[in-house]
Amino acid sequence: APATDKLPLEVLIAAPRGFCAGVDRAIEIVEKAIERYGAPVYVRHEIVHNKFVVDGLRAKGAVFVEELDEVPLDAPVVFSAHGVPKSVPAEAQARKMIWLDATCPLVSKVHRQAERQVKDGRHIIFIGHRGHPEVIGTLGQVPEGVMTLVETEADVAALTLPQDQPLSFLTQTTLSVDDTARVVEALKAKYPAIKGPRAEDICYATSNRQASVKEIAPACDLVLVIGAPNSSNSVRLVEVSERCGTPARLIQRAHEIDPAWLDGIGTIGVTAGASAPELLVREVVDQLAQWRDISERQVTMAEETMIFKLPRQLAS
Ligand code: F3S
Repeated sequence: APATDKLPLEVLIAAPRGFCAGVDRAIEIVEKAIERYGAPVYVRHEIVHNKFVVDGLRAKGAVFVEELDEVPLDAPVVFSAHGVPKSVPAEAQARKMIWLDATCPLVSKVHRQAERQVKDGRHIIFIGHRGHPEVIGTLGQVPEGVMTLVETEADVAALTLPQDQPLSFLTQTTLSVDDTARVVEALKAKYPAIKGPRAEDICYATSNRQASVKEIAPACDLVLVIGAPNSSNSVRLVEVSERCGTPARLIQRAHEIDPAWLDGIGTIGVTAGASAPELLVREVVDQLAQWRDISERQVTMAEETMIFKLPRQLAS
């Protein structure tokens, strides 16, 4: 049968999507470290939450570990984009290791704010997802007991900090813009004197990706989000679509798409979390084109021009 027998499918591709400046920089740090120091270069935790990226770097000579004590003393080690507790570089320094910090500068900015607020005598309420490496890293910037983690409005309701205690709040960079606004509102209602960050801690990439899904989702029957289940910003994109009333599926690779998902579907949205390479977006669109007669359209909500400098050791 001729190819035109395929049913039509409109594919709306969200922009911005995929790699952010922090992920770009983190990957480049590992690549440059391998060039400079030779393989193997150790990486503490997945450099970014994407298996394709991690496998690619492993093939070039990166070795991924979870803890510093798994790294031989004479091998260079890179800390992931999510950031690490202060104790980690301190330990690397004490062991005289070569270490490179791929923490996203926008995460480091939150770390510095946390330090400053504690120095000012404030107790910090940190809005984030328990157990995520970024949250572990940010909690680890300050002494124990001076930062309280909240995830939801219910957590805010349960807070028992006294009204006369000086308070401030900070947030994880990859949260839901809408949910966080509600948690912040609840915090301000309960503690009117609480100090917030001057600018939003949710990063530009997270908010742009959420805004672009909001733009395409209402016109779609299904949205495919390319990203890993442990990628916070990717999981948020699924939620944003679902809240627009459009079902969404989180997939890591094209082969995970069940052709039955396309039954009765005329318009499909495609986006990718900040740690998912563009190659995987093309792979998904190509897969859709094998089943359906696709027409592709990109919907652009913002232009991104952010670029972050490499650490000093790799800059030249
Ligand atoms: Fe940084 Fe935001 Fe990307 S915090 S790593 S720019 S998702």
